[in-house]
Amino acid sequence: MPPPNEGHNEPLSYEEVCAIKDDLQSKLNGKTPEIGIVLGSGLGGLGEHIEDAVFVDYKDVKHFPLSTVIGHKGRFICGTFAGREVLCMQGRFHCYEGHPIHLTVLPIRVMSLLGINSLILTNAAGGLNESFHVGDLMIIKDHINLAGMVGCMNPLIGPNEPRYGGERFIPTSQSYDKEYGQMFKSAANELGLSDAIKEGVYVFLSGPCFETIAEVRMLKTMGADAVGMSTIPEVLVAVHCGMRVLGVSLITNEAVSSYESTAVANHEEVLQTGRKRAEDMVKLVKEFLTQLK
Ligand code: HPA
Repeated sequence: MPPPNEGHNEPLSYEEVCAIKDDLQSKLNGKTPEIGIVLGSGLGGLGEHIEDAVFVDYKDVKHFPLSTVIGHKGRFICGTFAGREVLCMQGRFHCYEGHPIHLTVLPIRVMSLLGINSLILTNAAGGLNESFHVGDLMIIKDHINLAGMVGCMNPLIGPNEPRYGGERFIPTSQSYDKEYGQMFKSAANELGLSDAIKEGVYVFLSGPCFETIAEVRMLKTMGADAVGMSTIPEVLVAVHCGMRVLGVSLITNEAVSSYESTAVANHEEVLQTGRKRAEDMVKLVKEFLTQLK
């Protein structure tokens, strides 16, 4: 089996990331995307709605890791969606696949170098908040970077590279763009989907195990509303690059917190819920982009 990251265990230099950007750009047929979209587990269907599309497999981009997760196609789609030029990722990279954290965020750095300033991140997450239902969409208003806080899994560890835009110590208290959150809510109102919209705190764990009951109880006590294995490293790099971020979690399953429960989390349920909500996500992102100036 090939290593998922071509053996790039050391962080890439700024010049190397620029070369990767040039390589991807040369494959985009002259398109100049202005908005980045990352599609999480089961949500890749939005990519099929992009018009005038150019497809670039991750395996064809210099130094790019391979996406190994079932339900992640592993390619960029660049084209027009809601009248905007977008660069969409059908599938992302996770630490649990064995990728070093700096490679999981490489696409965000590349997007920033391509001139993308607005980023929409979606993911599948387990619901911790008892008022949430499977199929709800949680606008991420804040996060707890648990894996990053206690496990050195923070993509900004290492020498700071100011050419990306950010300083050594960046504030993260305004990571999620409030206006974008409001616009996503109003898109849901327009579409009659407001009952499914929630807002909350996402907690990032390394995975790949789903949580134990004791862990779920701990996460609830911490104030987290949804739990997942992605997104936050991307958010941190996006903030470091000065991008505006919208994060949306699809609640694909209820995180089990009772010893009496016989339910167990599983990836098939995650994918199935994603497929059920996929069309609504397409409409919501389309309406959001229509509102985006
Ligand atoms: N836990 C962690 N990550 C997840 C879950 C979960 O329950 N559901 C989807 N991603």
